[in-house]
Amino acid sequence: MTRRILIVFGSRFGATRNSAEVIADLLREVLDADVIVRRPRALSRSERRLEGVDAVVVGSSIVMGRWVPGVRRFLERTDFEGKRLAIFVSAAGVLNDRTEELSIEGRRALAVSRFVDPVLAAVEAKPVTVAALGGWWRLFGHDVFNNWDEAMVQGWAHEVAREFGSS
Ligand SMILES: Cc1cc2nc3c(=O)[nH]c(=O)nc-3n(C[C@H](O)[C@H](O)[C@H](O)COP(=O)(O)O)c2cc1C
Repeated sequence: MTRRILIVFGSRFGATRNSAEVIADLLREVLDADVIVRRPRALSRSERRLEGVDAVVVGSSIVMGRWVPGVRRFLERTDFEGKRLAIFVSAAGVLNDRTEELSIEGRRALAVSRFVDPVLAAVEAKPVTVAALGGWWRLFGHDVFNNWDEAMVQGWAHEVAREFGSS
């Protein structure tokens, strides 16, 4: 049973932070877990070593095709042996892209293959679930687009809860 969960996120414009908080609330409610939400630089030494942590969610903003460097480093340098791991990215541009005539599920899968799979090649651990979630692009206080969808985040968080809660 998962008791203590660490969520490590990196956000440039706020969508990944919102998603991390929604995921944290749902995991607290469904799993009755102790959930800590941190940016990489705020991690204590023992949190960085995952001491007393049963499972980890890692989330990164994608801008110009790039992860937040500190989150990517955390993923690549941490030993997840014996821990459950779930990974998400906020890839609002790909989720918004209608040029390829894909469904939203198809666009989410495309974002995972473009932004998550290459990073996983450098990570020892196999995540129990991965996802691409939405976000926004704002200019001068106005949305150029906004596909952050709380129901989509909660849907994936339920999957994380199932994976983390199973024995
Ligand atoms: C300058 C800029 C570049 C972006 N590049 C990408 C991209 O390469 N791929 C993508 O899917 N989304 C891209 N986006 C959309 C981001 O994924 C979106 O802004 C998201 O909310 C970022 O997460 P954050 O709010 O947690 O920083 C870009 C947005 C901006 C403003």
